[in-house]
Amino acid sequence: MKDNEMREKAAAIAGQLTLEEKIGMIHGAHLFATKGVERLGIPPLVMSDGPMGVRQEFEPDHWKAVGCSDDYVTYLPCNSALAATWSRKLAFAMGSVLGEETRGRGKDVILAPGINIKRSPLCGRNFEYFSEDPYLTGELAVPFIQGVQQWDVAACVKHFAANNQETQRLWVDVEIDEKALREIYLPAFYDCLLRGGSLTAMGAYNRIYKEHCCQSRYLLEEILRKEWGYDGVVISDWGGVHDTELVAVSELDIEMSVTDNFDEYFMADPLKKAVEQGIVPEEKVDKKVIHILMLMQRLHMIGDSGQAVRKRGSYNTPEHRQAALDGARESIILLKNEGNRLPLSAEKMKKVLLVGENAERMHANGGGSAEIKALYETSPLMGIKRLLGGNVQVDFSKGYDSGKKEAEDDGNWQEKSLQDGGGRTETQRRGENLSKERAALREEAVKLAGAYDTVIFVGGLNHDYDSEGLDRSDMKLPYEQDALIRELLQARPDTIVVLIGGSPVEMGEWAESAQSIVWSYYAGMEGGYALAEVLFGQVNPSGKLPETFYKKHTDCSAHCIGEFAKEESVAYQEGIFVGYRYNETFGVEPRFCFGHGLSYTEFVYEDARYQEKDGKAYVTCRISNAGPYAGAETVQVYRMTESPEEMPQRPKAGESLKGMRPVKELVGFGKIYLGTGESGSLQIEVKERMEGCRLAVGSSVKDIKILI
Ligand code: BGC
Repeated sequence: MKDNEMREKAAAIAGQLTLEEKIGMIHGAHLFATKGVERLGIPPLVMSDGPMGVRQEFEPDHWKAVGCSDDYVTYLPCNSALAATWSRKLAFAMGSVLGEETRGRGKDVILAPGINIKRSPLCGRNFEYFSEDPYLTGELAVPFIQGVQQWDVAACVKHFAANNQETQRLWVDVEIDEKALREIYLPAFYDCLLRGGSLTAMGAYNRIYKEHCCQSRYLLEEILRKEWGYDGVVISDWGGVHDTELVAVSELDIEMSVTDNFDEYFMADPLKKAVEQGIVPEEKVDKKVIHILMLMQRLHMIGDSGQAVRKRGSYNTPEHRQAALDGARESIILLKNEGNRLPLSAEKMKKVLLVGENAERMHANGGGSAEIKALYETSPLMGIKRLLGGNVQVDFSKGYDSGKKEAEDDGNWQEKSLQDGGGRTETQRRGENLSKERAALREEAVKLAGAYDTVIFVGGLNHDYDSEGLDRSDMKLPYEQDALIRELLQARPDTIVVLIGGSPVEMGEWAESAQSIVWSYYAGMEGGYALAEVLFGQVNPSGKLPETFYKKHTDCSAHCIGEFAKEESVAYQEGIFVGYRYNETFGVEPRFCFGHGLSYTEFVYEDARYQEKDGKAYVTCRISNAGPYAGAETVQVYRMTESPEEMPQRPKAGESLKGMRPVKELVGFGKIYLGTGESGSLQIEVKERMEGCRLAVGSSVKDIKILI
């Protein structure tokens, strides 16, 4: 059915509804559902979190998990992990799993993907997001959404817009210039909503230009509806609406929240009253209902065809677990590999020691609304044992303790999550009183290390730090891990360092002395096995950093020029100089740069050319695998702006960068899989070539192989 026919039909149905029925459809009547209208066959709209899988079932009116065994699901790699694959194909595949499971669980809308730009490494929700780069984010989120929506469920791209910190997330006002908003923070939303066709969008909690995003005239009306012509459904973040009259006339369609006083929501009884009193015209309500009825037609929820044609979906299938493994494999990033310390050889090995809590810690059930009740989660310890089998002795020594109290979780996190402005900055490290215990754990691990032929440290962060409602105050590794890694490396210089986390950490105390450093984002239910495959060379790592790994957070523009985690308002003075755009332009060396990721093999780049065909621009390049392993390479194309003779001075905090352009910007990428000795040609579509700009083709933002 065509859009205009759908709209007409929606309007005709809306015309048969009473005000009360319409009001029921535009606000939460349960924590994750609106009201339907039974007499006309309109079902409620049922939603669920979140990016890494379909969340567990909650009681309809309070945050208590139902607790049955029927809501375990496939736990997918988080969006940062997906971004590290740089694979559009995997993005579609992961989206498809999520969509099929959403439908399989009987939901209509999945509250994913999260696509906010990683402006600072300290934002607690970074693991839910893709990248610091708008192009990479859009290129991967679009196929993800298409994968989801082929299952007759709607994706809900979130959080619109500039939702880049958790501290005071309900009230913080983002002060940003229009250019930065349009070049950095909005493009991925445009791509997802218009090019990717995401059927719904979620407004953000924060304010922008003093308006709350969920009732913002500028964002929702001027940009989203008028400029972009978006006719999907806009849903509030849970508790993101603050005013009946403002939201009534705004372009928000559904108000959701975290409390059970559903009739008192701003778009419930108060709105009904405002319409009855003539304060708000009823057409404003109709408009919202029409959007919802159009969505329901698009999902085959209503209409003649209905159930007969709507896809049925399923969850926890073997294929989904395989897809989770495929995604995890390509997400792991080899950051450093001096002297080809990796891969390890299982044949020669007798005894392996794993040190570090993350070797055996599960991560699925944490992080806030992105938590997953995973069917299972393979830890690195289990993954390595699974891979090595019974002939190798694999031992574990904790080495550090996070001090997590299991009883902390009383199940009401979400309801409490909006208290006191909805988010804070963690200034205190967890378990600070555990220093004595940690010293003992460290001593034990270091002592043991000498007796093994291989020592693998597995540490990093966990969802006590990578979490909704919480920003970190710096990038330091928690739980005294730096001391542990240092001591391990002293005792065993060949110790392999594996870090798991959702955002970068400082490595200054030991990075120079470590031979091998491996990074894994939260990589889903098969993450531990994929890691084992990478360490033992059954999978050649091909992940690339979708964000800059700074030496310390003060090397990030949000901190050294702009502001971050301020409470009332936060100034984005760095403008468009986000992530590598800043570091490359002003010569600020990161620990590992954007796009970086090593392989066990070697790729040779040749013959890069620029072509225009049918109004589109391409770079073609020949890549050969000249090393001893089959593997995959992600070739990146950056647009270079003529850099001045001398590197510009590092700007001071608050200094305006107006009029300047970053020296490099990602405009294209492609991934190629090559056997040993194989070559292939890669054709990469390039976003746009600006007059007079050169193109740099390389394996990271720094490792440029060919200039065109
Ligand atoms: C989060 C959203 C989430 C919603 C529903 C909010 O706290 O910001 O991302 O989808 O809750 O759980």
